[in-house]
Amino acid sequence: MHADVIAIDGPAASGKSTVARRVAAALGRLYVDSGAVYRAVAWEVNRRGIDPRDARAVSAAAARISIATFAGGGAVRFKVGGIEPGDALRTEEVNAAVSPVAAVPAVRALVTGLLREMPRFGSLVVEGRDIGTAVFPEARAKFYLEASPEERARRRHAESRAAGLSVSAVRDSIGRRDRIDSSRTVAPLSVAPDATVIDTTALSIDEVTDRILKADGIRTLPRPDAGPAARER
Ligand code: CDP
Repeated sequence: MHADVIAIDGPAASGKSTVARRVAAALGRLYVDSGAVYRAVAWEVNRRGIDPRDARAVSAAAARISIATFAGGGAVRFKVGGIEPGDALRTEEVNAAVSPVAAVPAVRALVTGLLREMPRFGSLVVEGRDIGTAVFPEARAKFYLEASPEERARRRHAESRAAGLSVSAVRDSIGRRDRIDSSRTVAPLSVAPDATVIDTTALSIDEVTDRILKADGIRTLPRPDAGPAARER
């Protein structure tokens, strides 16, 4: 059975999160932020005093992390050790740790396994780096958002979560993650051959959302459990 997933991939600050949230709401699907799950693992690694670059220690930690998923408020959410981490995942400490942690195969296996179980909650819009390539290669529709590095740094700087950093420091931080995310051995950031690529540099969030919602057949994707009769309706 094909999972009923719309995949939205792309690098940091390409507009994925906001657009994916809006697309999910417009289509009555649940939103999934896969990056938040990687951030949660990095947060836990930091909290335990483990060096995020020590792949062996990170691997061992991944085996002991308990992440519980649940649906609520239009999204699939999760708790780590009973806590929903929220804004704690958006600090510069987590930004610095997340890409090396996400490059560790045991971490990718953990998060990919959790994501692949999420279709049990319903139809999904999942955003990330490897959703259309590695996690749900059979996704019903795939989009890849990109934007120039300057524009991405400007956007992230404008968000309150980058408060205190200069635009060039934000650009460096994003650039470091881009390099690690694109060069790792397991599931690097890359464009799925069947993805629709949207350059968002000169587009507003509304324009990008609109393009996705107007893509061929996106509003009429059949439900995964629908039989042939239901699909024809
Ligand atoms: O929101 P932002 O674009 O800054 O990043 P994010 O989506 O929260 O992802 C944070 C980090 O998690 C990325 O830089 C990747 O290292 C990792 N990630 C990944 O490896 N695979 C995914 N599907 C999603 C995120």
